[in-house]
Amino acid sequence: MTRKRHVRVLIDAQTIEKRVTELAQEIIKSNPEDLLVVAVLKGSFMFAADLLRALHTAGMEPQAEFIHISSYKEGMVSSGKVSVLKDIDSPVKGRDVLLVDDILESGRTLAYAKDLFAARGAKSVKLCVLLEKPGHRAVQINADFTGFQCPDLFVVGYGMDVAHSYRQLPFVGVVETEA
Ligand code: IMP
Ligand code: MG
Repeated sequence: MTRKRHVRVLIDAQTIEKRVTELAQEIIKSNPEDLLVVAVLKGSFMFAADLLRALHTAGMEPQAEFIHISSYKEGMVSSGKVSVLKDIDSPVKGRDVLLVDDILESGRTLAYAKDLFAARGAKSVKLCVLLEKPGHRAVQINADFTGFQCPDLFVVGYGMDVAHSYRQLPFVGVVETEA
């Protein structure tokens, strides 16, 4: 018998939308100048798109860039190796950079990205993540702006995937197999 999969909603679309609007306000209060928002692909694409629109609605004029960073996994566990698959095209020297990612887990991806932009001479590098998963940090790093604390479950949706599926979901959820 084939088992049906279904995704249990953890954070619904309306709750995400409200929090993204609040995050935009928090970011504005930090007074960024000449802000460059860098979305860390792939998982952050939906969050970054909504956050950019919220920043616009709140009166900001950020520039947007994209970097594809891979942190290699063995199964669902981070192996510790990080590399840039596609870099941004803009210079960052002297600029306030905001890195946007889906989840802060081991911290290796964002620690690597933060060091990279700092080494290129950014004036500041701040981190904004949709979700923070506690208990798995391999390096000492905290987000400056966090959407939600995430339970220790493998989540999908709102840009996040299992083998490229479920990214299209407008909510964050957990894949369950029905008995
Ligand atoms: P880390 O902080 O370097 O361990 O990397 C976190 C990255 O792992 C995130 O940006 C996601 O791409 C991925 N990741 C971690 N936990 C999950 C999850 O629950 N669902 C989907 N992707 C995840
Ligand atoms: Mg990621």
